[in-house]
Parts: sequence; C-alpha cells; structure tokens
Amino acid sequence: MEKAASSISELPQLKKVLVVGSGGRENALAWAISKFQEVEKVYVAPGNGGTKDQLGCHRLDIQESNNEEIIQACKSLEIDLVVVGGEKPLASGLADKLRGAGLVVFGPGKEGAQLESSKNWSKNLMNEAKIPTAQHWSASTEHEAQDLVSEIDRPLVVKADGLASGKGVTVCNSIKETRAAIKESFEGKFGEAGATLILEECIQGPEVSIFAISDGETLEILPPAQDHKRLLEGDKGPNTGGMGAYAPTTMLSKKDLEKIKEEILLPTLYTLRKRNINYRGVIYAGLMLTKDGPQVIEFNCRFGDPECQALMPLMPSDFAKVLQAAALGCLKNAPKLKTSPLKSACIVATASGYPENPRKGDLISIKLKQSQENPIQLFHSGTKISKEGTLLTSGGRVLSIVSQGDSYNEAFDIAYKAINQINFHGINYRQDIGYQVRSKVH
Ligand code: AMP
Ligand code: GLY
Repeated sequence: MEKAASSISELPQLKKVLVVGSGGRENALAWAISKFQEVEKVYVAPGNGGTKDQLGCHRLDIQESNNEEIIQACKSLEIDLVVVGGEKPLASGLADKLRGAGLVVFGPGKEGAQLESSKNWSKNLMNEAKIPTAQHWSASTEHEAQDLVSEIDRPLVVKADGLASGKGVTVCNSIKETRAAIKESFEGKFGEAGATLILEECIQGPEVSIFAISDGETLEILPPAQDHKRLLEGDKGPNTGGMGAYAPTTMLSKKDLEKIKEEILLPTLYTLRKRNINYRGVIYAGLMLTKDGPQVIEFNCRFGDPECQALMPLMPSDFAKVLQAAALGCLKNAPKLKTSPLKSACIVATASGYPENPRKGDLISIKLKQSQENPIQLFHSGTKISKEGTLLTSGGRVLSIVSQGDSYNEAFDIAYKAINQINFHGINYRQDIGYQVRSKVH
C-alpha cells in the first residue's frame, strides 16, 4: 500500500524556535510552543521580565526591528522555526527577510501584512472578495474627506489608513465629531498613518475575535475569543490594547464558525492568492455580529493580545507542529488540532495612567500559589528585570493572569483569586471581564 501523503512524521524536526516580540502574546506563544516534547529551546527576542521563568524559554537581547541581528541569531542558534508575534515587524517585512535567508517563518510577508497595515488595501480586498463589511470611502486630502461628509450627511467612523497602535479609529456620534476627527488626522495626529483616511458606515453589535492559521492554501480555525477593549467596567472609558479576554465565546455555534470560514476566511485567502500572496500566518478577523449577520470590522495579520493569552492554554501540546506546518505551507501534514474543552479566562493587570501615560519602574510582588487542579498561567507583558535582579513594571499592560475551568465562573474565580496575590503600585484591572458568560459579576 502507498504511504499516506499527509503525516506529521513528514515534517522536519523542531528543536529550536525563536519567537519575535516582547508582549504577553509572545510570552504565551513561547509557553505553548515549549510544551511540545521535541522542542528543546524557545528563544524570545527581545522578550520581557517573565521570559526566563518559563520552562525552556530564553531571552535574546535583540530588538524586533533589528532584522540583521535576528537573522544572525537564527543562523548561529540553528533555529528551526521563527514565529513573528506582532504587526510592526510583519508590516516592515521581517518575515520576507528571514525567508530570504532560508529560514522557516510563521507570519506573513510585508505584502500580506497589508491586511492590517493598510485599512484601505484591506477594505478593497474585502470588497473584491465580497466579504460582508461596513461600506467605506477613502480620502487622501482633508478637502476630499470633508466633501464626502457633506455628501453622505451622517456621522461616520474615521480610521487612519496605517498602523496607529490601535489608536487610529474614532467612532463619531455626530457630523461635527466626524469633521473634527478628520481635521485632527490631517493635522498629523497619527503621523504618516493618517495621511490617507477611511470613512466608514457605523455598524452595531457584539464584537468577537476569530483566528485562523493559514498555510497559504488552507486554514485551521481556533476557538473564537472575546476581547474587552475599553479601560473601564461596563465597556466604558477609552479604548486600550485589551483589558482581558475569554475563549471560546458562546456567541458563535460550530455552524456559525463554519459559515464564517466559508464566507469570510476562505474568500480572503483565495483573494490573497489571486494577488500572488502566499500568506503563512494568522488571519485575525475582528467581527461585529450585526442583526444582518457577521461583518468584518478589521483584519489583523497576527494573534490578538490578550486573546492569545486566553487561547494558548487551550491548545494541544503539539501546537508547535501546527505552526511549523503552516510555516512550511503544508497544514495537511500537521497533527489534528485537538483543542481543550475547558473555558479559559484572562485578566490584564495594567499600570496606573494606562493607556495615556502609564507609570513605569514599580516593584512587582507575585505570591501565586499553583495547584494541580486549578492551573494558572502568568504571562508577562510590560515587565523587566532590573540590574539588581528585581521585577519591575515597564509598560502599560503589565501582566496577564489566565486560568481554565469546566465553566466560565470557575475559570474567572480562579483568575480573580490569583490576581489578588499580585501587587504593584497603582495596579488596575477590570472586575467584569467575561461578564457576557459569567453568572455573577461582583
Ligand atoms: P479597530 O482599531 O479597527 O479595531 O477599531 C477599534 C474599535 O472601533 C473596534 O473594536 C470597534 O469597536 C470600533 N469600530 C471600528 N469600525 C467600526 C464600524 N464600522 N462601526 C462601528 N464601530 C466600529
Ligand atoms: N486585542 C486586540 C488586538 O490585539 O488588536
């Protein structure tokens, strides 16, 4: 009998992995990758104050923008797989440079990363692929944008075309606000990122985050997650990078997910292929579940943070092989993705002053008690080790506290108890993460 073409044993060995990035997302990815028995070492560049505490993980003091040093390190350390965590290095073409140097990379090249790095490019692709999304107009001068507002005569969502660290979107409630947001952007509020603007129809509904792993040909969808973008309880206050997440969300059935795959994700992938883009990495669709069905709010070219921290503990121990197979363009050879049936909860502890002006340099005290039955993962983001060896805050989002349970109530109870054992000056977190799925929110 002929040997089956698809088999995990056909994938090359995976002993050394490099994760590029310094956030909680990269910390969680490194942790999940290091669980695979074949993996001997996971390097994280530049990592953070928590990297070395993770079994099998090591920090490399190389900035994610330093392409040459990353390539050198990959060669000298004989890295089998590079996983690029964030949108900035992807949008600047790090994955292309690494592939050019013969490395195996999980993460799209510069062209594919335009799904996130240019909203205009992304919206045009959505229209070409007939993907449900809010109607949009683009403008490259203030005059053009203000004329469009007069013509459309409704409040609109104003979006900077380029990467603006999650701050480039203003959902306007009036025409006056729309005009003011346009003016600010053309006055340089978002720098080059705001040189072209997208004006969008305002749509409504709960938001969910969908992550699909693509090998350029086909896709594997992960359990859907829900982020909490606003700073304050009750989804109030300014937008942040994300204050907490949980997975899987109950808002989408298996059938809904299948439909999202058929009507949103696969058409996206086919349209990328039509443009000769071999997309090997994550397609992250931020969806709004409107009364007319799911619509794409935005695409991102990487895992969400903090959704990734909630998702990674649900991944099987051979998840690293799935990333490797996608990076090699052969998901069909990956082990079947058997995700955990548990519910996962993630709470983000932030520094005082976040998101505007986070305080840094405070001592962090962690007195976590782990137990066999209540697993807790502590993923660091804005932390660093001082010269004296103490753990200090060094960014807005400091730590993600993650736990799993048979129910959402159980998972969140464990995570909230755990966060009480962590302290630093001005620690802040939302008490109502997961309110959508918890029976009581204190
Ligand atoms: P983004 O940075 O594209 O994720 O947008 C930030 C937030 O703005 C989203 O999470 C939504 O809450 C909101 N938003 C973006 N586009 C729209 C839209 N067309 N209608 C309503 N809200 C939107
Ligand atoms: N959690 C939202 C993002 O990563 O963009």
